[in-house]
Amino acid sequence: MIPLIEKYRDFLPVTAATPVVSLGEGGTPLVPLPRLSERLGVSVHAKFEGMNPTGSFKDRGMTMAVSKAVEEGATAVICASTGNTSASAAAYAARAGLTVAVVIPEGKIAAGKLAQALVHGAKVLSLDGSFDDALRVVRGLVERHPISLVNSLNEYRIDGQRTGAFEVCDDLGDAPDVLCIPVGNAGNISAYWLGFNAYREAERSRRVPRLYGFQAAGAAPLVEGAPVAAPETIATAIRIGNPARGDQAMDAMRDSGGGVSAVTDSEIMEAYAMLAATEGIFCEPASAASVAGLLKRHAAGDLNPGETVVCVLTGHGLKDPDTAIVNAEPVRRLSADIDAVEEAVFGD
Ligand code: F0G
Repeated sequence: MIPLIEKYRDFLPVTAATPVVSLGEGGTPLVPLPRLSERLGVSVHAKFEGMNPTGSFKDRGMTMAVSKAVEEGATAVICASTGNTSASAAAYAARAGLTVAVVIPEGKIAAGKLAQALVHGAKVLSLDGSFDDALRVVRGLVERHPISLVNSLNEYRIDGQRTGAFEVCDDLGDAPDVLCIPVGNAGNISAYWLGFNAYREAERSRRVPRLYGFQAAGAAPLVEGAPVAAPETIATAIRIGNPARGDQAMDAMRDSGGGVSAVTDSEIMEAYAMLAATEGIFCEPASAASVAGLLKRHAAGDLNPGETVVCVLTGHGLKDPDTAIVNAEPVRRLSADIDAVEEAVFGD
């Protein structure tokens, strides 16, 4: 296992004194999507971040945030979360021997993410409110107590998440033409932009991509230009109405020549099902927003033939089994009888 911090040490604010807390994060596959590529006339790849140790891209930032928290003498960490940050914080805190509290919006956390936070021993606190309320509360708490905030407001999280861009460049031999990515609290898209720029400045790549960010239509404050008081979407990971890094993300998209747009829940679920059924990739609904968005940008004429596109699939589909099952064909129940099974398998 090569910890991400070791692989990209030259680009990260660590020293020999930093205790590296790692679970083998990063090194996720850049999977070509041949069917989608053929359909769109561009070369599409998925950066499958679901293959990180806790099943989402958060681990890239969390290895940094928790390592630095330990270095700085913290004994406890806290975050607000729509689920994945809490799962990652809980795992890395467990690994480091820190106590961890996670504050989540009531009833809106996918089952797998909740299971992760609980099994790793986090104190799980469910608020009657949205992610935005939870973030407001934890920001207040860290003012009152010496506890380390591990949301993407923490710069070390962003430092670590830049490595996603580094890996994409290493795998392709340069940056792609276009990066499609879901946007929630707007930390990850900001991190990718910093990463692509840092890599180009270090002459490890020659260019930077256009960044296309995608929000769910019911939770699209950056598209609407104002906070959304009651965000709603099936993509619970990005059910966020007031992104902490919204301005930074908007600047990044503008400077890159890209932009932000919204995708509906049904567009998200179509992309989600298509990826699973025709490309063999099971990502969570929020992640499929990047592919739903690519289809939309393509239809609008925003892509040139033959361009290289990377869609960041931010989390694994296993995080949210309920959404997968509810939206699939029902399981057929049969008697334990060869004729019944034969008819079911080979009949219409
Ligand atoms: N995709 C997934 C699967 C996520 O969990 C998140 C954010 C995003 C995309 C958006 O990333 O916030 O950096 O713009 N999840 C956070 C959480 C908010 O608490 O797990 P972002």
